[in-house]
Amino acid sequence: MEWEKRETLWIFISGVVLLAVLVFLFWGSLLPEYSGYQAEFRDIVRDNAGQQGSEAVPSGIQQIWVAALGRTDRCPTCHLGMSWKGLEREPNPYRSHPVKILEKHPLAEFGCTVCHGGQGYGTTEESAHATQEFNWEEPLLGKELGELYLISDRAALEQIHCNSCHRYDRKTDGAAYINSAKELVHQKGCRSCHKINGRGGVIGPDLMFEGDQNPEQFDYSRLSGVPSVFSWHVGHFKDPKSMVATTVMPNFGFGSREAQALSMLVMSWRRQTFPIRYLPGVQLADLPTPEEAEKEKQMLTGPGAFFVRKGCFICHDVTAFGVESAAKLGPDLSVAYSDVQSRFGRTLEDFLAAPTGTMAVVLSTQIHLTDAERTEAIGLLKEAYQKHLQNQEAQIAGTKR
Ligand code: HEC
Ligand code: HEC
Ligand code: HEC
Ligand code: HEC
Ligand code: HEC
Repeated sequence: MEWEKRETLWIFISGVVLLAVLVFLFWGSLLPEYSGYQAEFRDIVRDNAGQQGSEAVPSGIQQIWVAALGRTDRCPTCHLGMSWKGLEREPNPYRSHPVKILEKHPLAEFGCTVCHGGQGYGTTEESAHATQEFNWEEPLLGKELGELYLISDRAALEQIHCNSCHRYDRKTDGAAYINSAKELVHQKGCRSCHKINGRGGVIGPDLMFEGDQNPEQFDYSRLSGVPSVFSWHVGHFKDPKSMVATTVMPNFGFGSREAQALSMLVMSWRRQTFPIRYLPGVQLADLPTPEEAEKEKQMLTGPGAFFVRKGCFICHDVTAFGVESAAKLGPDLSVAYSDVQSRFGRTLEDFLAAPTGTMAVVLSTQIHLTDAERTEAIGLLKEAYQKHLQNQEAQIAGTKR
């Protein structure tokens, strides 16, 4: 009899435990995900600032509403420590926000998603960070995506968003990738073929709103790895012909970091409707520097003025006439008169009348030469070649003496 009693007791106890577990699980599923983070945060604050501090921790959904930007960012629902001091060493989402960046961009006026991306209204990690599904329009430009895209500085992607406001800065502290990409655009003369910020050629597409291109407009079939607009650009910058076989865009020999930086830059070029006070105090255009303008003026009054006026100098030096190209995408035209003969087996007259390769695209899209202008160009290039030979002779004579 004794053992029967004990058995009943055990059955009773297990029943109670089972019920308790069920109630606990059911209760937990009713609580939103964030309440766990909020409870944890309250514990952290209690450990750091005592009971009183922890009573100051708000609960429920927290949000920053920025009417001027049309954004409601609920990120602080979990990231409760953003404006707290002294939690710099706590893990995310409890950590204090780095302060320096917020001096010029106060949280109350900027919210979170203008810089970080993500879905402002989301209150679960999955919906707020939005990195799980590739079809989210605004994923969190954070570490997870950085890893996926193999960027060595995992947090660098958010610089894409910095540049939506800092587009016309030559340089922005804290946006190293974007800064280096802007320098490359300048050095490599992308403007020879593309309109960038309103200035440049028409051989390639206007890149003003390149970042708004629909992902479906790109052909991913030649891409190995995860198909994304970012990877397409990286592949295209490393070797344009690998993505678009017929392109005349040159292979500049970019390494991974350069290709990634340029991809971030072109993806940052999106149509924005920020109120003017959200745009840093710079002119809303990308003008030539005073030195560039002065140089162009000088060249326009020299013997090579034709090549400056017609825009040949965007890609070609004509050193014999003191004409210098910033981009140097094509050969020095001082020697074209004989070089065309040896390279293409044709006369210069022939080549300019029916050009091949890049020049075929240039002369059918960007630069129109009338018959008279073509004759003028040929005459001038003959002259330049003679001048080049004379200079060479003078140089040889000079070294002999
Ligand atoms: C439901 C809770 C929750 C919400 C809402 C939330 N986060 Fe997070 N967040 C987390 C957690 C947890 C981590 C730490 C885990 C990790 O590092 O992956 C984190 C980490 C981060 C990080 C650092 C890690 C990284 O990927 O770079 C950033 C940045 C971030 N969140 C931004 C945001 C922004 C912006 C929003 C609003 C759009 C947001 N979070 C909304 C929970 C949340
Ligand atoms: C003006 C742009 C800007 C705004 C606005 C902004 N952040 Fe940040 N945030 C940054 C920068 C820059 C970093 C530092 C990145 C780094 O150092 O790697 C950062 C870092 C973070 C981190 C990672 C901290 C760490 O050290 O791991 C989190 C999480 C984060 N921000 C969340 C938020 C949330 C949530 C908001 C809104 C309440 C917000 N940020 C608003 C620019 C911004
Ligand atoms: C929504 C627009 C916006 C975004 C996004 C933004 N900024 Fe700014 N930023 C501004 C404005 C406006 C100022 C000028 C504030 C002032 O002078 O009081 C500024 C100022 C600065 C300054 C001080 C130097 C200067 O030009 O005045 C730096 C550095 C800076 N931002 C870096 C960044 C970085 C890095 C990011 C991305 C993490 C970023 N910004 C994102 C609007 C923005
Ligand atoms: C000789 C002319 C030329 C030069 C120089 C040039 N491009 Fe291009 N680019 C093109 C042409 C033509 C296309 C269209 C075919 C293609 O996608 O390759 C193109 C396409 C692009 C695209 C893809 C546009 C799209 O949505 O399909 C981007 C982005 C781009 N170029 C950026 C650059 C950058 C940045 C530089 C400087 C580092 C540069 N280009 C230099 C001719 C040029
Ligand atoms: C967008 C850049 C660009 C512009 C603008 C441009 N060219 Fe060219 N040009 C090239 C490239 C690149 C080559 C090299 C051939 C090739 O790659 O197809 C070339 C080759 C030539 C050649 C053959 C040179 C040789 O040594 O073989 C001549 C001649 C020439 N261009 C004349 C002109 C003239 C004249 C103009 C102005 C009316 C002009 N180009 C404008 C890019 C350009």
